[in-house]
Amino acid sequence: MTIIDADGHAAGHAADNEAAYRERLPEQYRRRSFIYASDGFDRHQNGKIQKTPKTPRQNLADNDRERIDVQIIYPTGGLMLSRVREPDYAIALAGTYNDWLHDWCSADPKRLKGVALVPLRADVRAAIHRLGHFENFLQIHTCSHAAEQLLACTAVIYSGLLETYRRTTVSSGGLRSLLSSPPAQAGVQGKRSELLPDSRFRRNDAHEGRSIMSDDGWVKAADRSKLAEGEVLGVIVAGKEIALYDLGGELYATDDICTHAYAKLSDGWLDRDEIECPLHAGRFDPKTGKATAPPCTEDLKTYPVRVAGDEIQVKME
Ligand code: FES
Repeated sequence: MTIIDADGHAAGHAADNEAAYRERLPEQYRRRSFIYASDGFDRHQNGKIQKTPKTPRQNLADNDRERIDVQIIYPTGGLMLSRVREPDYAIALAGTYNDWLHDWCSADPKRLKGVALVPLRADVRAAIHRLGHFENFLQIHTCSHAAEQLLACTAVIYSGLLETYRRTTVSSGGLRSLLSSPPAQAGVQGKRSELLPDSRFRRNDAHEGRSIMSDDGWVKAADRSKLAEGEVLGVIVAGKEIALYDLGGELYATDDICTHAYAKLSDGWLDRDEIECPLHAGRFDPKTGKATAPPCTEDLKTYPVRVAGDEIQVKME
């Protein structure tokens, strides 16, 4: 079995040693006060990460000790290359690092594989073209898509979004739309999964039925059995989209369509005595129709509701 260290770094190698750069850089760059701008992170973990092979032979001996057959070596100081503001200097730095890396890996090219630096301000297209890679859409798309997904995932996971919006649910196809919404509007879009199930929030599938209006305006909206306590049910009554609520056994009815934009409140969440819109998290009091949380400012129309036999009826006139 071949063991590969797929995430080796030039941290601590001679190339991260400024002296190595100063020896190799073009003359005009050698006396700079610093080689790379820093991102301020302590990559040596307060001295805990100290392996500093001074030569490729030492590097290979360390790999032998750890039974690593092949090591991929990425830059470390070089990760800051995008912070270098002078294009010529960035090109010189990348060239210096790549030459050093070539020399280092030449000690055993089968076991030491270097990842080259390409300065972003250089003519990357020409450089890539010269290397003969990424010439067709599929190659470019494959790489860019993976990086984009990683950025999106880290943004969702590490930015605190899920902690801030605890009722936000995420499906794999939903990340893009979620991220493209401003945080204050990061509601649920697309298919929901049960990432953070919360028993306070329930929803029902919409119910549709033909309406027969009595002389005094009462219309059957649903079978009573369709609406359980603490739930919201979307129905169509006399051609109107109505949301029915059971709050502690008391029934209420409002328009089902949010007053802010087009979203069905019956697709949202009933949180104790408020219904939360699934699109932008606006809220309403189902008892009064009053808008209780932004971005909703316009109240919902409410309807008288009653139970007659096994029917829930709503008065439409
Ligand atoms: S559609 Fe925006 S809060 Fe309901």
